[in-house]
Amino acid sequence: MWLLVLVLLVMLLAYRWYRQSQILENLSDKYVFITGCDTGFGNVLAKQLDKRGMKVLASCLTEKGAENLKKETSSRLKTTILDISDSKNVSDVADWVSRIVGDKGLWGLVNNAAIPGQMAPLGWQKKNDFVKVLEVNVLGFIDVTLTLLPLIRKTRGRIVNVSSIVGRMPLIPGGYNLSKYCVENFSDLLRQELNDFGVKVSIVEPGAFNTALTILPYIKKSMEEKWQMLPAETKKIYGEQYLRKHQQNMEQLVTTSSPKSYLVTNCIEHALTACHPWTRYSAGLDAKLFYIPLSYFPTFIIDYMASRNAPKPAQGVH
Ligand SMILES: *[C@@H]1O[C@H](CO)[C@@H](O)[C@H](O)[C@H]1NC(C)=O
Ligand SMILES: *[C@@H]1O[C@H](CO)[C@@H](O)[C@H](O)[C@H]1NC(C)=O
Ligand SMILES: *[C@@H]1O[C@H](CO)[C@@H](O)[C@H](O)[C@H]1NC(C)=O
Ligand SMILES: *[C@@H]1O[C@H](CO)[C@@H](O)[C@H](O)[C@H]1NC(C)=O
Ligand SMILES: *[C@@H]1O[C@H](CO)[C@@H](O)[C@H](O)[C@H]1NC(C)=O
Repeated sequence: MWLLVLVLLVMLLAYRWYRQSQILENLSDKYVFITGCDTGFGNVLAKQLDKRGMKVLASCLTEKGAENLKKETSSRLKTTILDISDSKNVSDVADWVSRIVGDKGLWGLVNNAAIPGQMAPLGWQKKNDFVKVLEVNVLGFIDVTLTLLPLIRKTRGRIVNVSSIVGRMPLIPGGYNLSKYCVENFSDLLRQELNDFGVKVSIVEPGAFNTALTILPYIKKSMEEKWQMLPAETKKIYGEQYLRKHQQNMEQLVTTSSPKSYLVTNCIEHALTACHPWTRYSAGLDAKLFYIPLSYFPTFIIDYMASRNAPKPAQGVH
C-alpha cells in the first residue's frame, strides 16, 4: 500500500519535473519587452535573455541606464527611454515596440519597473507620498499592460509581473507595500480573462534581495528629509531614536539580503520560455520558507513577528 503511494508520488514528481522542463522552440524569434532595466532585476534579466538569443526590447528610466546596458549586450537588444507613469510616453513606446515587432507581435512583457517610494512610518506621511508611488507602481503598470495587450494577444504570449514579498508582509510601511499588494490582487482577473486568448500571466514574488543596495542611500535620505519636515509635536511623540532604528532596520534588511538575483531572473526566464509556465513563482529561500508560510498564520502572530524588532515611539503606550 505505502509502496504504491510512494511510486505514485515519485511518478507525479517526475511528471511535474518533465512538464516544467519543456522549453519552447525558436526562442530567437521571440520579442520580449522589459520595463525598468537601468539596474536590479530588469538589468540582469535583459542581459540574461539577450544571451539566450531572445530579442530584448529594454526600457530604462534614464539615458545613462540605457547606454550602459547597450555596452554590455549584443546588437539584438534595443533600448528606449520610458517613464511608465507618463501615459503619452507609454503610448509612444508602444508605437516603437509595434514598429519593431511588426506583424509578429510581442511574445513577452515583463512588468518590472517600480519605485520604492517613501518608506518612513505611516504617521509621518501625507497623501502625496502615496500618489507618486501608486501612479508608477500601479497605474503605470496597468497602463503598460493594457497598451501592449493587443501585441501580446497576437502571439498568445506571456505577461510576467514582478511583485515583491513586501506585498505579503507588513514589513515596510508606505505606498510600496500597498502598490505591490494591488498588483497581486489584480492577477486573478487578468489571468482569467486572458486565458481565453491563450495569453499566460505569471507573477514572480522575490524574497529580499540586495538589489535594493543601490537605492538604500536614497531611501535613508528621503526618510531623513521627512523627519526634518515633521511638526515639532510629531517629532516629540516619535523621538529621534525612532528614525535611527527605522533606518537601521531598513539597512539591515537590505544588506543581509541574498545577492543571488539570478534566482529571480531564472523564474522570469522560465515564465517566458517554458511550454507550461507556473502562475506563481517565489524566488529565494526566505520567501519560500519564511514569508509565504508566515502570511498564512493568524494576524496576531504576523503582527508579533513584524513588531518584534520594530522601532518604538518615545511617547507610545508600553
Ligand atoms: C521554428 O522555426 C522553424 C524554421 O523557421 C519552423 O519550421 C518551425 O515551425 C518553428 N517552430 C515553431 C514551434 O514555431
Ligand atoms: C519618453 O520620454 C522620454 C523623456 O521625455 C524621451 O526621451 C523618450 O524618447 C520618450 N520615448 C518615446 C518612445 O517616445
Ligand atoms: C502591507 O501589506 C499587507 C498586506 O499584504 C498589509 O496587511 C499590511 O498592513 C501592509 N502594511 C502596511 C504598513 O501598510
Ligand atoms: C484581493 O482582494 C480580495 C478582497 O479583499 C481578497 O479576498 C483576495 O485575497 C485578494 N487577492 C489577492 C491575490 O491578494
Ligand atoms: C500584472 O499587472 C497588471 C497591471 O497591473 C494586472 O492587471 C495583472 O493582473 C497583473 N498580473 C499578475 C499575475 O499579477
